[in-house]
Amino acid sequence: MSDILFSPFTINGLTLPNRIAMSAMTRGFSTGGVPGPDVAAYYRARATGGVGLIITEAVAVDRPGASELPGIPTFHAPGAVAGWKAVVTAVHEAGGRIAAQLHHAGALRKAETSAHPDALNDEPATMSETDIADTIAAFGTAAAAARRLGFDGLEIHGANGNLINQFLWSGRNTRSDAWGGDVERRTRFAVAVTQAVRAAVGPDFPILFRISQFSQEDYAAKIAETPDELATILRALVDAGADAFHASQRRFWEPQFAGSDLNLAGWAKKLSGKPAITVGSVGLKGPDVGDLIAGQGGNAGPAGLSELRARIERGEFDMIAVGRALLTDPQWPNKVREDRLDELRGFDLASLGRLVIEDAPATAAA
Ligand SMILES: Cc1cc2nc3c(=O)[nH]c(=O)nc-3n(C[C@H](O)[C@H](O)[C@H](O)COP(=O)(O)O)c2cc1C
Repeated sequence: MSDILFSPFTINGLTLPNRIAMSAMTRGFSTGGVPGPDVAAYYRARATGGVGLIITEAVAVDRPGASELPGIPTFHAPGAVAGWKAVVTAVHEAGGRIAAQLHHAGALRKAETSAHPDALNDEPATMSETDIADTIAAFGTAAAAARRLGFDGLEIHGANGNLINQFLWSGRNTRSDAWGGDVERRTRFAVAVTQAVRAAVGPDFPILFRISQFSQEDYAAKIAETPDELATILRALVDAGADAFHASQRRFWEPQFAGSDLNLAGWAKKLSGKPAITVGSVGLKGPDVGDLIAGQGGNAGPAGLSELRARIERGEFDMIAVGRALLTDPQWPNKVREDRLDELRGFDLASLGRLVIEDAPATAAA
């Protein structure tokens, strides 16, 4: 019987062999902004493991403060282009596809980064018109670099509390100029970034846009209070050049708006007419759905997977993204495809501290 999770899917001309994406995960191993051979081997292992589309960790655009942690990669640091070329080549040689996630941390940088040599520990300043224009341009420059490097697509990171998400969220965006106000005005920055990225890569290159309601600053935050507000955001982004939406949730099974079972990806697809990727605690084992880092997450294993398959079959969304489970278990997609569910490892906290490359337990068995 055919398995919908392992059926091909096409986004703007890019055909993926299955419906499984690796969610972007910042690792901090790219010293000086340059991914080294260990990072290339790490991504190659997920391609070998059967991931249909690898989405890289956040890559900071070329602006002061765009990166919130040391070890976040860029495309502009000396040596970064060669480092990324090795990553892209490694993934392609293993038969994989890889999209780069473009990122600006904005205010995420303020508190947690006191160890960062040039961390801003104060409340970030309101961006000037020049800052805004330069930041939009920097996204375009990074997008062009990614295309030249041979990436298969891009993801604009507009979720989880970073700069683009801060413009979208009224809790952060208190501007009284053209970039703040109602939902249409709060979306203008995201639109301008998406237009710049589309202009830089041309029409035939997949651009995903990552959205979330929540911010790491406030898990109860909402960029859209209603489906109508969400539609305003998404349709503007489609007009600007977004091909698909990656809807960041902490738990994929949680409905988004009252009166419907649809999750955020489901709403994104319905309202935009574009493909959507869901994410959030896929493949995690154990009863305790905890916080983002420590959570060993519920609704996983066979039950979670059959629910995901059914929801793709129903057309609610098109793909799933897997984060933490892929940190621990590079072979996660192959094991699911071959129904070797007893070999799935879930997520081991120890795999945050290193790049797991081999297919061996992250922690030695007793
Ligand atoms: C260590 C770590 C780093 C992350 N870094 C990013 C990032 O750079 N960009 C991003 O969009 N999301 C980031 N996330 C969120 C993940 O992409 C994903 O949405 C989240 O982990 C939920 O999926 P999961 O339950 O499968 O792990 C990160 C998550 C973790 C655990």
